Amino acid sequence: MAYETIIVEVEDSVCTIKLNRPEALNALNSHLLGELCDALQAADQNDKVRCIVLTGSAKAFAAGADIKEMSEKSFVDMFLSDFFGEPHRDFMAIRKPIIAAVAGYALGGGCELAMMCDFIIAADNAKFGQPEINLGVIPGMGGTQRLTRFVGKSKAMDMNLTGRFMDAEEAERSGLVSRVVPAKTLLEEAQAIAAKIAEKSMLTTIAIKESVNRSYETTMTEGLLYERRVFHSLFNTEDQKEGMAAFQEKRQAQFRDR
Ligand code: CAA
Repeated sequence: MAYETIIVEVEDSVCTIKLNRPEALNALNSHLLGELCDALQAADQNDKVRCIVLTGSAKAFAAGADIKEMSEKSFVDMFLSDFFGEPHRDFMAIRKPIIAAVAGYALGGGCELAMMCDFIIAADNAKFGQPEINLGVIPGMGGTQRLTRFVGKSKAMDMNLTGRFMDAEEAERSGLVSRVVPAKTLLEEAQAIAAKIAEKSMLTTIAIKESVNRSYETTMTEGLLYERRVFHSLFNTEDQKEGMAAFQEKRQAQFRDR
C-alpha cells in the first residue's frame, strides 16, 4: 500500500517503518498516526515479518504531536474524539517486537512513541524530552507515566517540569534506551538486532513481549505466576524440543513457530 507520511520496507524477516514528514520534523499528525497504525497492523499480520524497526530521519525521530493540527482544538474536541486514544490502543495491540531506532529529536509525542516500542536504540545525537509544559499542556501519550517507569520519579519530574532535553548518554545511563550507537550506523545496527530477534521462535518473542509488559500491570507475585505458567506452557511446543535438542547437539536451533 502507498503511504504519504511513512516509508515501509520489508527485507527478509524485518519490516522497517520510517516516519517521513521532513518538513515538520516528523510531527505526528492524525494522518501519519493512521498510516503508522495501518502499517504496523499489516506487519503484524504478515507471516514473513518477525520483527519491526520504527525510525525517523537523521534530524528527528519525531518532534512531537503536530502542534499546528492541535492548536485550535477545544477541550470538547479533544475529549469527545479521545485524541490519541485510538492510535495508542492500536499501537499497543501489536504483538510482534518493535524496536525504536532514534536519531535526533524525540520530543513530546515523539519520545512517547519511542517509549511505546519494546526498546529503544539511540544514535549518539539523539535528544529526548517532554517539552509540553512550554505549550501550556502536559504529555498525552505516556510522558508522565512511561517515562517515570523508565527513568524514575526525579528525572521524570525534572524532564516534564523543566521541558529540558536528555542526550543519548544520559538516556542510556537512566535506562530510557538500551544501547547508544553512532548516528551513521543506527539503522543498520537496529536492523541487525531485529534480524537476530527474527531468528528466534515467534512463540517465545511474543510470550516475552506479553510477559514483560504484564510486569507493568500487575503485582510481582501475580507477574511471576503468569511468567511461570507461560514458561510451563512452552514445554508443549516443538520449538522447546528443538531449542533444547540443538543445545545438546551443539548446533543452531531451527525454530518453526510450532
Ligand atoms: N508540530 C508541528 N510542526 C512542528 C513541530 C511540531 N511538534 N516541531 C517542528 N515543527 C515544524 C516547525 O514548525 C517548522 O516548520 P515551518 O518551517 O513550517 O515553521 C519545521 O518543523 C522545522 O522546525 P524548526 O524550524 O523549529 O526546527 P529547529 O531545528 O529550529 O528546532 C525543535 C527543532 C527544537 C525540535 C523545534 O522544532 C521544536 O521545539 N519543536 C516542537 C517540540 C515540541 O514542543 N513537541 C511537543 C509537541 S506536543 C505533544 O507532543 C503532546 C503529546 O504529548 C502527545
